[in-house]
Amino acid sequence: MGSSEPRLVLLGRQGAGKGTQSIRLAEHYGVIHVSTGDMFRTQATQGTAFGLEAKRYMDAGDLVPDEIVVGVIEESMVPGGPLGGGFVLDGFPRTLQQARELDRVIAGDPIDLVIDLDVPREIVFDRIAGRRVCEECQRVYHVNLRPENDWVCDTCGGAVRQRDDDTEDAVERRLELYERETVPIVDYYRARGLLTVVDGVGPGDEVFERLVKVCVEQLT
Ligand code: AP5
Repeated sequence: MGSSEPRLVLLGRQGAGKGTQSIRLAEHYGVIHVSTGDMFRTQATQGTAFGLEAKRYMDAGDLVPDEIVVGVIEESMVPGGPLGGGFVLDGFPRTLQQARELDRVIAGDPIDLVIDLDVPREIVFDRIAGRRVCEECQRVYHVNLRPENDWVCDTCGGAVRQRDDDTEDAVERRLELYERETVPIVDYYRARGLLTVVDGVGPGDEVFERLVKVCVEQLT
């Protein structure tokens, strides 16, 4: 393992700030940010058959089936592929089967650290209700910081909108699935000594400082 190009996984319930902080961590370490949710949304916006199928699951708050998700990641993990070096995985794995498949795919060059970004359920509801996302580059905003309804992305000029799966029903379903399908992964990584928990409550800059601190401490 080399701390200059770490291989990180960020876990955390919906709205914990995984997307927000993964992008910053990936920039900080000069590695790739991989969000399966962003991949699916981009494909859905482009109207591909795969994207439209994934969108049906996403809008209902359901998980996209494991075999589809693993297939997408596996393609990226081939030697010389985009995930051959360091990365921050955001939203993958999120079932035990995906975690095991990830181990299989990267067998020779394992994960360095898994971070569980911890934010209580009552706080994530408020964050998700105010979330707005750029349709083009997927940059994440919050209405508390921008009073307008819809606006143009500061990064790419794309349209910034509310996500189709940020409805109350879909959020309830996603949080329920998180407890059932994703929490077991926390124990899976803890048992292997790879897991660290970071408090995700507080201003974004402070959360980022905490993340960098644990990376510095543990990626040695
Ligand atoms: P995905 O896009 O991964 O969404 P998610 O897991 O539901 O997570 P979120 O994007 O809701 O939350 P986040 O933790 O990234 O928070 P964010 O940074 O945006 O997946 C969507 C769907 O795709 C899934 O439901 C599923 O259908 C499918 N899918 C994806 N991966 C899959 C997989 N592996 N297997 C099967 N299906 C899969 O922050 C939230 C808000 O809070 C923002 O507005 C942000 O500005 C704000 N915020 C962030 N940090 C702070 C802070 N410190 N203080 C205050 N506000 C903050």
